[in-house]
Amino acid sequence: MAIALESVPRHIAIVMDGNGRWASKRFLPRIAGHRQGVEVLKRVVRACGVRGVSVLTVFAFSSENWKRPVDEVSALMDILVVALSRELNQLKKEGVQLRFIGSREGLSERVKQSLKDAELATAENHSLTLNVCFNYGGRWDIVNAAQALSASGEAITEESLARRLSTFVTGDPDLIVRTGGEMRLSNFVLWQSAYSELFFSEVLWPDFDETTLDAAIQAYASRERRFGMTSAQLPGARNEAT
Ligand code: FPP
Repeated sequence: MAIALESVPRHIAIVMDGNGRWASKRFLPRIAGHRQGVEVLKRVVRACGVRGVSVLTVFAFSSENWKRPVDEVSALMDILVVALSRELNQLKKEGVQLRFIGSREGLSERVKQSLKDAELATAENHSLTLNVCFNYGGRWDIVNAAQALSASGEAITEESLARRLSTFVTGDPDLIVRTGGEMRLSNFVLWQSAYSELFFSEVLWPDFDETTLDAAIQAYASRERRFGMTSAQLPGARNEAT
């Protein structure tokens, strides 16, 4: 069923969980799940563009993922570099702007260069912004913003702090999707999720497709976002007294 454009979330954020389990179920190494995860991500970027989503933010590597086995960490770094070099031209053609969010500390020169090149090459694109959270943590984001605010001497307000968060230019996610059956945020967009709608799916990320994306968008479209107000106060609400 087609969803009216005004009911489509402007900004979707996704915790792409379940790659390891998808691979284990097939007696494959975990990294095969991450590779399949990249293929799915490409498809989802395209599907979001078609549906009129403006911003997609994905959690690709968390500040805590350094605790994984060294081989898996280095494979994830390789996957990122290889995917960028392979997909950059297509992303440019599709008008996707890439932004990498997270600390560059601890990343190799090769990884840092490839992030920089991809951002530069797509900086003028405006069809869809893809925020890739890499070496990212929500707490890191808040601490980083607080340090910058404190150094500026500006008064501490919600607005002055929010302006220094890594996602400020693309705004807060309207909808956060987590695949893989877990129901937590795992240090993802902690500040920005204050009023996001949440959608949890049992589907493992490498099995995610347009059907699951549409189920999430449908669920979002059926929610009433009140931002602390009552239903009657919302724009377009029927006057209850009449
Ligand atoms: C969580 O699944 C997934 C990750 C830690 C990596 C997500 C990365 C991708 C989808 C590939 C795209 C990556 C880049 C670099 C663009 P998990 O490994 O925790 O799965 P499990 O819970 O089944 O073990």
